Amino acid sequence: MDPRQNPYAPGAGAPPPELAGRDSLIEQAAVSLDRIRSGRHAKSLIMIGLRGVGKTVLLNRIHLDAEARGIHGIRLEAPEDRSLPGLLAPAMRAALLKLNRAKAATAVAKRAMRALAGFVGAMKVKYGDVEVGIDVEPEEGLADTGDLDGDLTDLLLAAGEAAGERSTALALFVDELQYVAEDELASLITALHRSAQKQLPITLIGAGLPQIVGQTGRAKSYAERLFDFPEIGPLDENAARLALSAPAAKENVSFRNTALVEILRQTRGYPYFLQEWGKHAWAVAPRSPITVKHVREATMQALAELDASFFRVRFDRLTPAEKVYLRAMAALGTGPHRSGDIAEELGRKVNALGPTRSALIAKGMIYSPGHGDTAFTVPLFDQFMKRMMPPPRK
Ligand SMILES: Nc1ncnc2c1ncn2[C@@H]1O[C@H](COP(=O)(O)OP(=O)(O)OP(=O)(O)O)[C@@H](O)[C@H]1O
Ligand SMILES: [Mg+2]
Repeated sequence: MDPRQNPYAPGAGAPPPELAGRDSLIEQAAVSLDRIRSGRHAKSLIMIGLRGVGKTVLLNRIHLDAEARGIHGIRLEAPEDRSLPGLLAPAMRAALLKLNRAKAATAVAKRAMRALAGFVGAMKVKYGDVEVGIDVEPEEGLADTGDLDGDLTDLLLAAGEAAGERSTALALFVDELQYVAEDELASLITALHRSAQKQLPITLIGAGLPQIVGQTGRAKSYAERLFDFPEIGPLDENAARLALSAPAAKENVSFRNTALVEILRQTRGYPYFLQEWGKHAWAVAPRSPITVKHVREATMQALAELDASFFRVRFDRLTPAEKVYLRAMAALGTGPHRSGDIAEELGRKVNALGPTRSALIAKGMIYSPGHGDTAFTVPLFDQFMKRMMPPPRK
């Protein structure tokens, strides 16, 4: 059918035509943010899930909704190679300026800017990647010691007070949180903890891969009491059907039930794959309805495209030893797998494979859902590995 009308949106952070199955989470986040704004207690949220389940899209949606209710968002995406202060400083500056846009800056608001000036000055020296100018004099002893724990706490407290004075809240929206270095994460948690104790309206809504639960726990043992970790998983059957059929219906196109069943079977309800299959099924079908025959052809095209892009870019970042490790995991099935079983598959000792496993976790390719267990962070990666490489020789 007409590619111009194709409603599906496979891509990183691409807003889906129908954000299916996430209403209760969106509501949970809205309730938390509104409670924080009114000085009540609410845990910070960190949404965890595998690649392509829709974390970024959800974070953006919660952010947008929050802004519409007058809450100020500070949006960050942690890349693998920048410090948290380097990311935070310019975003915080923009947020503080916005707070003061409507009315003249008060003493509290000016103090928040001075805290930021102190923070930027101290962190420039420490990290070097803090690139923002603040045309306000810092205040001696306020967020300027060079110790991230204390300085970040000073900054969040001062910013929280400024938000409180304006009867609003500041929410840090941090995507790819697992890439924040553990010592910086620890400082962030300390700062949020202090702000929560003081009932200041500043909070975090984060998103990341499942290993973030372990990382926050290692960074601060009390992290589990400070955060909720809602799991973002594949869509259930009804939501997955809706994600496919609602956008089509708007264009007067329908799916045969057997076509939907086949897409659900292939994609297992993973949002990114639903978009990919929807797009290809639409392209293959000459007219409505989309049938199972169209879907079978779409499956071949979708897999070819995933193999050339979504899976491929991840594969290309791997060392030969890492590839072999993942291929052994794939040989054992979808997972999770015991480290001992993977080692046995490779005819190696568990300890000898430790560094490879750690490197794969750091690259965000695998995670440990339970002690001694290993699973892929990328859905359907096991099948891709089987298509790419012959089975390991023992
Ligand atoms: N609830 C949903 N219903 C339908 N499609 C969705 C839903 N959530 C996300 N998608 C689609 O899934 C794809 C991936 O979304 P997104 O980039 O937010 O995933 P992610 O979890 O952030 O992935 P990554 O870990 O790679 O960053 C996008 O194409 C998006 O349109
Ligand atoms: Mg994302």
